[in-house]
Amino acid sequence: MKIAVIGTGYVGLVSGTCFAEWGNHVVYVDNNAEKIARLNQGELPIYEPGLDELVTRNRNAGRLSFTCNLAAAVEDAEVVFIAVGTPARVGHGDADLSFVYMAAREIAPLLAENAVVVVKSTVPVGTGDAVEKIIASVRSRGSFSVASNPEFLREGVAIHDFLNPDRVVIGVEDENAHAVMVALYSDPLAEARTPIVLTQRRTSELIKYAANAFLATKITFINELADLCEQVGTNVGELALGVGLDKRIGSSFLNARPGYGGSCFPKDTLALLRTAQDHGIALRIVEETVTANEARKRKMALKVLDAVGGDVDGKTIAVLGLTFKPDTDDMRDAPSVPLIETLQRFGATVRGHDPVGMENAARILDDVQLFDDPYECARDADAVVIVTEWESIRRIDLARLRQVMRAPALIDLRNAFEPAAAEAAGFRITAIGRPI
Ligand code: UGA
Repeated sequence: MKIAVIGTGYVGLVSGTCFAEWGNHVVYVDNNAEKIARLNQGELPIYEPGLDELVTRNRNAGRLSFTCNLAAAVEDAEVVFIAVGTPARVGHGDADLSFVYMAAREIAPLLAENAVVVVKSTVPVGTGDAVEKIIASVRSRGSFSVASNPEFLREGVAIHDFLNPDRVVIGVEDENAHAVMVALYSDPLAEARTPIVLTQRRTSELIKYAANAFLATKITFINELADLCEQVGTNVGELALGVGLDKRIGSSFLNARPGYGGSCFPKDTLALLRTAQDHGIALRIVEETVTANEARKRKMALKVLDAVGGDVDGKTIAVLGLTFKPDTDDMRDAPSVPLIETLQRFGATVRGHDPVGMENAARILDDVQLFDDPYECARDADAVVIVTEWESIRRIDLARLRQVMRAPALIDLRNAFEPAAAEAAGFRITAIGRPI
């Protein structure tokens, strides 16, 4: 199939490249000429393991190209994906749909007969209807379709998630879109017998938000239980194992951590709440999840205070791992940011290290000296805080780390280290959901 993808962010880049990998011809369009020039030289704007090779392979095979020429890309495309950003509107929290609507307006006069416009960006329920109206105001009705096809991939394992999804969700309102979308997915996923959920467009749009809100709630639930575990002297890891092996509950997303971050859960839970409020509905569980998660991220600084004797004023704290999770350079809503800001407000000097996210971290963090080497970062520090459990950080030589530090406090917010090993290396360790 001939596919055009509008938007070269995470979702657009990964999904389009994977469609090419499945044998389709994919053209990316972005109005940022510099970004397109870099992509044409093989430079990707995001860090995602395995993506460079996949892009190169498909470009060399002639199935993948990048252009600023919207008309050339869209005119003979059977499917046009809109995969632009839908960031939270500052001060409102609802999704900013201006990029989606702009893309709809721009492609409208260029679409081929019976082209299917697919909204892949995460968008509030009813956005597909609005996109259809925008396009219809330019063209005669019936000569195009608008479908919803949300994406469920995770950063860091995005290619695996796209090529091996648990399910594909497709929302359509007509036969043309139904046939084209099923043709796009059914063959590549036939062997794995991946369920394809075919539904109405509005349902499909809401499924995406409901899934993210549920996962955010599951994480928040185990995070709150981790706090209780600390007080009653039990271990949240064992608790999660015992609970999660019940198939009705499931063991994934039961890892207690410093609070969820990233470009999706924080933004999507807020946007879902705004949609619900617009319809006079209170989603109380999601409201609590959002509030509890924000509070949790802030209170992680108190764990550091406790570990160094109640006061960080004048002390040096080394933070290892800055991105919102491992295997991404993404700093959006990363728990490291409020933690560092709070420690600085309490008078600490904060140093940081991240194996991949340093460039983005430097843009966001003020007054934090960044180090490529974790041991240099920890030199003369009064405490080390593990905020992101990169593999390279898990493999740190704890005895060597302890040697370069001034004091023995290790605050492990990702339960990356075995307490016994940390203690053997001379540390006093504080973790998540373990007896204090
Ligand atoms: C999330 C969803 O998992 C994807 O299905 C979805 O497609 C994506 O959002 C999106 O809407 O685009 P992502 O944000 O890449 O993916 O990362 P996750 O692996 O889900 O992690 C999100 C946050 O939850 C991270 O801060 C992570 O550390 C935290 N988390 C995750 C926990 O604290 N505990 C867990 O058990 C799992």
